[in-house]
Amino acid sequence: MNTAILYMTQHGCTEKAAIELARLLPGKTELFNLYKVPAPDLNQFDTVIIGGSIHFGRIQAGLQKFCNEHRGELIYKNLGLFICCMETGKNAEAEFENAFEEPLRRHAIAKGIFGGEFNLKKMTSFERMVIRHIASVRESTSRVDTEAIQRFAKQLASVAQAQ
Ligand SMILES: Cc1cc2nc3c(=O)[nH]c(=O)nc-3n(C[C@H](O)[C@H](O)[C@H](O)COP(=O)(O)O)c2cc1C
Repeated sequence: MNTAILYMTQHGCTEKAAIELARLLPGKTELFNLYKVPAPDLNQFDTVIIGGSIHFGRIQAGLQKFCNEHRGELIYKNLGLFICCMETGKNAEAEFENAFEEPLRRHAIAKGIFGGEFNLKKMTSFERMVIRHIASVRESTSRVDTEAIQRFAKQLASVAQAQ
């Protein structure tokens, strides 16, 4: 497998998840934080993973733009899609559906909801205020679902390697 993980992160949780994913995947995996570097030429990769985090119900607009502009290439890749978020269950599933357009969701081999973190130190004072009020969060918390990351890696590798 020759994999690109393209991601955006506000406070680093999605980056941690992407690094863990890269560690678990077979073959060569390169990481691209699209806030910091331009997207690579996708022709170099047979497998592409796109991940972002949910803030106020939405994934990063830049990731949605990327998906929209590259849909034609992405549907010819082994594709994985994931989000980091603090909602769980049906709410998290709805956030995932809202984050990625239907043709890509349908095409994806692996879809992941990896949990998330509230890192009060990294938030702006506005974000801290909102999170304290809405989620009643008083201290930093981590609920990253490492098992979901492992399942995602296994699923992607089993299908991609069989091709
Ligand atoms: C201001 C703010 C708004 C958030 N809004 C949501 C939300 O609407 N739904 C959700 O599931 N999680 C929400 N979260 C939790 C983030 O998804 C979580 O902190 C995630 O780990 C962030 O990942 P990142 O550090 O890669 O950006 C919010 C977090 C912050 C700080």
